Amino acid sequence: MQSPKVSLASTLLLISLHCLAIQVSSIDTLRQGENLNSTSQLISNNGAFSLRFYTPPNSNSTYLALWFTGRSRLSSPVWIGNRRNPIPTNSNPTLTLGARGQLTITHDDGGAPIDLYAGRSSEVENVTATLTDTGNFLVNSNGPAGLFWHSFDQPSDTLLGGMRLGVERSIKRNWTLTSWAAENDPAPGAYSMEWDSSSRNLVVRRRGAAIWRSGELKYYRDEAGQSRAEFENVGIGRDVFNFNFNFTAEEEEEYVMFTVLPFPGSPARVLSGWRLESDGDIVDVDRSMFLARPDAAAEQPAPPPDSAAAGLRAWAFFAFAAVVLDLVLFVI
Ligand SMILES: *[C@@H]1O[C@H](CO)[C@@H](O)[C@H](O)[C@H]1NC(C)=O
Ligand SMILES: *[C@@H]1O[C@H](CO)[C@@H](O)[C@H](O)[C@H]1NC(C)=O
Ligand SMILES: *[C@@H]1O[C@H](CO)[C@@H](O)[C@H](O)[C@H]1NC(C)=O
Ligand SMILES: *[C@@H]1O[C@H](CO)[C@@H](O)[C@H](O)[C@H]1NC(C)=O
Ligand SMILES: *[C@@H]1O[C@H](CO)[C@@H](O)[C@H](O)[C@H]1NC(C)=O
Repeated sequence: MQSPKVSLASTLLLISLHCLAIQVSSIDTLRQGENLNSTSQLISNNGAFSLRFYTPPNSNSTYLALWFTGRSRLSSPVWIGNRRNPIPTNSNPTLTLGARGQLTITHDDGGAPIDLYAGRSSEVENVTATLTDTGNFLVNSNGPAGLFWHSFDQPSDTLLGGMRLGVERSIKRNWTLTSWAAENDPAPGAYSMEWDSSSRNLVVRRRGAAIWRSGELKYYRDEAGQSRAEFENVGIGRDVFNFNFNFTAEEEEEYVMFTVLPFPGSPARVLSGWRLESDGDIVDVDRSMFLARPDAAAEQPAPPPDSAAAGLRAWAFFAFAAVVLDLVLFVI
């Protein structure tokens, strides 16, 4: 087992920064002409997601980061708006929703503004940018034009419930996860996770070479008789890892997505995500648990059957302990 990835000190710092920031603003929507600056943030209506500028520890770069706060009360970024265009720290970044619906980050460092979304060719009325309860940051209008742009179409390293991972043939684009370059560096890193339409597996690649496959989606009925589906090589127990995936194939697109099913007796609102970490691990962002360790599996020979069984028991214990911790955290 690895040591916890987040130290207590940085956790407390994050929590206190979070509380401080919450006092500044608690709206979930920007209207045209409104902006988000380095001291304000958007917070989803359910409080689970927030959007604000972020400078990682020991970094000279600032990013627009979308944060998820799970049941463990730890926050971590699940989406980065400008991972390929970092802004120098202390340059007063501002995210503005413009008259054409464009979403632009400006800063006073002298560099060019960064368009997250370039907007329509002419002005449009009644456009808003909203951080939803599922963690989607979307630009839409209340009129028939509807959805203009959303962050779920630009995955970073985390797949949230309702996001697509797959292939969009019509515009020759894939919905793919790409890890951070390092723990405190959101730039695109060595690992990617994509949908392979020929084998219908999720595939993790390290610098382009496939190192892990999810296996196929296996459908089954749970104790309540509901149809569910999970990947063969992910986790160990049907009731422990409660990500319920589904697969959609249409002429122009093909993708998987998941909903999180609550455990019996746990709160109805359950949100989580799959994060592809900078070392290739796949982690449940709500419970900070490993779902798969593609790189560890690629580098080590397959264990003999006995130790596989022991490993399984260790996993089962770990998973059980995490569930107990969940319930404890929920109660306090
Ligand atoms: C950010 O915007 C808020 C109002 O939305 C304002 O009160 C605050 O001074 C601004 N902060 C900076 C650093 O410009
Ligand atoms: C940040 O900037 C300082 C001063 O220019 C420099 O000494 C330091 O190495 C930089 N840190 C990183 C992580 O680039
Ligand atoms: C913008 O919203 C206002 C108030 O809801 C409405 O009266 C107006 O018709 C809307 N304009 C467009 C172009 O949808
Ligand atoms: C797949 O799951 C999503 C939620 O993640 C849901 O909105 C959608 O209706 C589901 N599709 C099918 C075919 O069940
Ligand atoms: C998308 O993924 C498919 C495999 O499922 C691959 O053949 C194709 O080259 C990818 N396209 C892009 C644009 O990355």
